[in-house]
Amino acid sequence: MAAALDVPILANMTEFGKSELFSVDALRDAGVRMVIWPVSLLRIAMGAAGRALDTLNDEGHLTSKLGEMQHRADLYELIDYESYNRFDSGVFNFTLDNTAKRTHDAVAERGAQRRVEVHEGVTMTEPDIKKGLAGVVVDTTAISKVNPETNSLLYRGYPVQELADTQSFEAVAYLLWNGELPTGDELAAFRLEERKHRALADNVKAAIDLVPLEAHPMDEVRTAVSLIGASDPEAGGSVLDAGGSPEQNLARSIRLFAALPAIVAYGQRRRRGQELIAPRDDLDYSANFLWMTFGEEADDVVVDAFNRSMILYAEHSFNASTFTARVITSTLSDIYSAVVGAIGALKGPLHGGANEAVLHIFTEIGSADAVEAWLDKALAEKRKIMGFGHRVYKNGDSRVPTMKAALDTLVAHYGREDVAALYDALESQFVERKGIHPNLDYPSGPAYSLIGFDTLTFTPLFVAARVTGWTAHVIEQAGANALIRPLSHYDGPDERHVAR
Ligand SMILES: CC(C)(COP(=O)(O)OP(=O)(O)OC[C@H]1O[C@@H](n2cnc3c(N)ncnc32)[C@H](O)[C@@H]1OP(=O)(O)O)[C@@H](O)C(=O)NCCC(=O)NCCS
Repeated sequence: MAAALDVPILANMTEFGKSELFSVDALRDAGVRMVIWPVSLLRIAMGAAGRALDTLNDEGHLTSKLGEMQHRADLYELIDYESYNRFDSGVFNFTLDNTAKRTHDAVAERGAQRRVEVHEGVTMTEPDIKKGLAGVVVDTTAISKVNPETNSLLYRGYPVQELADTQSFEAVAYLLWNGELPTGDELAAFRLEERKHRALADNVKAAIDLVPLEAHPMDEVRTAVSLIGASDPEAGGSVLDAGGSPEQNLARSIRLFAALPAIVAYGQRRRRGQELIAPRDDLDYSANFLWMTFGEEADDVVVDAFNRSMILYAEHSFNASTFTARVITSTLSDIYSAVVGAIGALKGPLHGGANEAVLHIFTEIGSADAVEAWLDKALAEKRKIMGFGHRVYKNGDSRVPTMKAALDTLVAHYGREDVAALYDALESQFVERKGIHPNLDYPSGPAYSLIGFDTLTFTPLFVAARVTGWTAHVIEQAGANALIRPLSHYDGPDERHVAR
């Protein structure tokens, strides 16, 4: 580097001082000649800097060069400040003076800050807090795209409705992990691999049996995944090698995907006082899942509706549980810890727990003719109606029509028009009164109930589907990692001291 320069490197004092990546001593030891110029002398040095850039340009290290002085804000765009910020996040934490801390994030988000008057004539900068991270774009992803304007959801570019209509859940899992749909041979090989890991391991079954029957089955699933992680022979005893290679993490993802149906199915069975059922090698994922749960082969129409639900639940960009998995991965923790954390986030009724809550509401209401009175009371009590509303979709969830069509086939199959009538009555009256549309949990709750799943099993079913998306995100996050560590605005007591 020193050889390419006929002048010292120039650095804006404030910018240079912010980075802990380089120190003057480190650069000097590396043979770099450096002068930090006061800002007023920078312009004088620009000629020399230009020559240095020409040298770099000639030697092919520089892709482009500016023709004239740029404003600071433009420079941030030119140097792709967001990527730079990602690269540097977690490294920089610089105290400017005794009263103010400035960070890259604060600088990058300067436009979002506002000045507030704290005393007459005295102002200070207050961050524009994005409560719940609403509307905040924290990273890029190539796994799925949610577009609320066009009401669409794409997995690796494919509309989810199209995938649900044409693909098996195994093929969609493959797509989420590998970026492409499998060929016939690839799918056959993938299915073979999945079938190898379906059986419930003895130690996992024993751990599930230790979970009290009164506990929520999500606690069982969380415990089971944790034990599978602890039993992974490749996991390593040191936190330093817990993360694993992309290949190891893909293999772990497939094993978790294959193992979850047995965990979920056994959970429901033991609550009913029934024995574990061994997997069937001759059945595909969805048919085998239903077999292990109910001990009988499901009709094609049921397998098809269930398969669609798994595909629709598989992935949804940076939702709360996926983001949890990414946060955990960002600390270089392991994939099992990320999935365990994601299960915890999914358990909540504002997220995955909503499909279960929808059934409680259906049970509470009873029948279609009771909807109006029930809704009057619920709205007067300012209750949240589970299965409606979405943080991203404000005009309807893109997955609902496909799942509603699957529910309709189940309604016809089981002859349960009463369920459809209740569904339609609550939807139409709630949308008319509040303008808030149903989300995927609204049709999936009654669909799972008609298939025969206990209400408590609904959220574990969501885990079995979403583990594909979570693990795809874990692999993506680990591949371009930056520690996820946002800032907070302190509003507690001023500094004070313990009385002595
Ligand atoms: C999903 C959810 C958490 C999104 O929340 P959000 O983007 O933060 O939106 P908010 O909670 O701020 O809602 C905005 C307004 O709509 C109302 N609202 C949103 N969803 C509602 C619901 N399901 N029932 C009643 N009112 C609802 C809120 O009360 C709020 O009204 P206000 O402005 O008068 O206070 C929210 O819609 C919800 O709690 N839904 C029920 C749970 C659910 O089905 N979750 C599954 C999501 S896939």
